[in-house]
Amino acid sequence: MEIVLSGIRPTGNLHLGNYFGAVRNFVKMQDEANCFFFIADYHSLTTHPKPDDLHARVKQVLVEYLAAGLDPEKSTLYVQSDLQETAELYLFLNMNAYMGELERVTTFKEKARKQPDNVNAGLLTYPSLMAADILIHKAHKVPVGKDQEQHLEMTRTFARRFNRMYQEDYFPIPQAFNFGEELVKVPGLDGSGKMGKSEGEGNAIFLSDDPKTIRKKVMRAVTDSGPTEPNQSKPEAIENLFTMLRIMSTPDAYNFFDEQYNNCTIRYGDLKKHLAEEIVHFTDPIRNRILELGNNEQYISKVARLGAEKARESGRKTVNEVREIIGFKSF
Ligand code: ADP
Ligand code: TRP
Repeated sequence: MEIVLSGIRPTGNLHLGNYFGAVRNFVKMQDEANCFFFIADYHSLTTHPKPDDLHARVKQVLVEYLAAGLDPEKSTLYVQSDLQETAELYLFLNMNAYMGELERVTTFKEKARKQPDNVNAGLLTYPSLMAADILIHKAHKVPVGKDQEQHLEMTRTFARRFNRMYQEDYFPIPQAFNFGEELVKVPGLDGSGKMGKSEGEGNAIFLSDDPKTIRKKVMRAVTDSGPTEPNQSKPEAIENLFTMLRIMSTPDAYNFFDEQYNNCTIRYGDLKKHLAEEIVHFTDPIRNRILELGNNEQYISKVARLGAEKARESGRKTVNEVREIIGFKSF
């Protein structure tokens, strides 16, 4: 069975963009492949050497992904730092990773510009840590966004190099995986661009937002003074609201408001009210699960321990084989 793996940075709460752009597809994939999903807490040290509440953040991510439908029985759901063998594979990969190629990585250059006082070796070797994450389970497919493609290319380079160096066809060459037709870009509420947690206040709707917050955010979404001519094209902010409607509501509702737009009778307030209720209807059960799971310390620990156990079983095997291939032997 094909092995699918993805890493999740423990930064912030899940929003509708993350859900429809990524998480929903992870949930579906659980039935089709042997999936590994992990929370990349080692990686966060490259930018936050002294993270506040690292454990609480990791827990929140775990809780939200579970609430959104990841199933610890179907997939291996673990915390990166629970699989310490990752660090050993990272060490081995670093021995064959070259300064020149690491320095050329776009995200490295960007981060180095952003944090000139902390251009640490972890930042430089971010791609080898990511490669270790992927190769430790010999993953075939890695569902990631566009911004991660260069990292994945590096993983392929490291895997091929390892195979060539030690003359063994050991690591499969992992492929980026995008969801093709199912790929949705969720727009933000501020009139331009996509929904994102680092955009302005009110741009993103989080799965953990309560109904009042959701209604407030939607009602404040950017619009204009309305169409003046029949069938005129929609400016970006309005197009965005319709895209949200398409994602969250029924084709009937979409067509109803679209027709009103086209004959200039639309009242954006009505559209927003409808949209807000659809979003509340969708997120409410997820939010309740988030609250429930967040209070169930015992269950969360159990999930994390089960994930760690499954991840170690797979990871240890790889690292032991790699040690043997390189030539380490125990006395
Ligand atoms: P953010 O943009 O809020 O920082 P991340 O970069 O952490 O989100 O994204 C995590 C995952 O969610 C990625 O796979 C990314 O492609 C997806 N994603 C984020 N925002 C959106 C969006 N607005 N529409 C679709 N997918 C998104
Ligand atoms: N670098 C990824 C991100 O920023 C997170 C990540 C770490 C990852 N290790 C990975 C993703 C391995 C896929 C596979 O989103």
